[in-house]
Amino acid sequence: MAMLFKSGAGRTEWWRNELTRLEPGLDFRVWPEIGDPTEIEFALGWEFPPGSLHRFSNLKCLCSIGAGVDHVFRDPNLPPNLPIVRIVDPWMTNAMSEFVALNVLRFHRYDPEYRRLQTDGIWGEEVPSPDSTTRRVGIMGLGVLGQDAAAKLIPFGFPIAGWSRRPKTVPGVESFSGAAGLDALLARTDILVMLLPLTPETTGLLDRRRLALMPKGAAIVNAARGAMIVEADLLAALESGHIAGAALDVFAQEPPPKDHAFWRHPKVVLTPHIAAITNPSTASPQIIDNYRRARAGQPLLNRVDPSVGY
Ligand code: NAP
Ligand code: GLV
Repeated sequence: MAMLFKSGAGRTEWWRNELTRLEPGLDFRVWPEIGDPTEIEFALGWEFPPGSLHRFSNLKCLCSIGAGVDHVFRDPNLPPNLPIVRIVDPWMTNAMSEFVALNVLRFHRYDPEYRRLQTDGIWGEEVPSPDSTTRRVGIMGLGVLGQDAAAKLIPFGFPIAGWSRRPKTVPGVESFSGAAGLDALLARTDILVMLLPLTPETTGLLDRRRLALMPKGAAIVNAARGAMIVEADLLAALESGHIAGAALDVFAQEPPPKDHAFWRHPKVVLTPHIAAITNPSTASPQIIDNYRRARAGQPLLNRVDPSVGY
């Protein structure tokens, strides 16, 4: 049985070392050096070319090398009934919560304003005092990442609300769901954190109408996927001042074109899709566990539901 690997972010030798340390003798094949396609029973990777998985007649499992699986479902010709799993890793979850906390605190503590004052050489200009008990944080997506981010923000004192497909009971978090729930969440949110999967339902979700529902001066942290925001509508909201700032880790096109306004926008903090990168050292044990389960015909960990796309 061979494992076919296609990297999303380099690190091939790191992956090879971790996986073969846990499973000595693993037949680890790196895309596009496939060998005999009938020997491939487990595929681990990012963005296998559409239609390519049909070549592997004995494929038992496709494992996304990240938490997200939108890259998997972009393939309109996925083999039917192919079990799909994803990475759920406490190390990665914590990395995401660090990113979220960094940027929520950045906006909460008026950091963009202080950067402007520093650039202008101004000392001591009056900036309002931040009060975490009145700064309302809203989290779109209350799954693995959203719930951990909420748990780590609660001790600061922020009133936290979250939005999910199904209503949820999460300690310390006001729960919203459904389309009306999203409008209500946005209307009460000063700092919005986006941690949803990209699906047909979430594509283009944050558009002009929904941005306008947010209070004037609100900020946005998008660590999910760029295509959830209508970027032209966000730019217009930043220009008008309705949205005060955005920390964007993800973009509709990655990297954004060189002339994209986000690159040099004074109200945008841009990072290159690094909020939570899969760590081969911490993620490999669950991959090998699933590799063994797939071979043995046992239930897989972290399975994705193709009917909802995440
Ligand atoms: P997850 O555990 O599957 O949670 C997804 C959450 O989104 C759930 O609460 C789900 O609602 C909610 N949701 C899905 N579709 C919805 C809809 N149509 N309306 C309302 N809520 C909806 O996913 P996760 O592990 O937290 O990861 C979330 C996303 O983060 C990933 O899909 C990936 O795109 C992104 N990510 C980005 C990075 C980065 O470096 N930038 C790293 C890792 C992950 P229910 O609870 O009702 O199911
Ligand atoms: C990264 O974006 C991931 O989905 O893991």
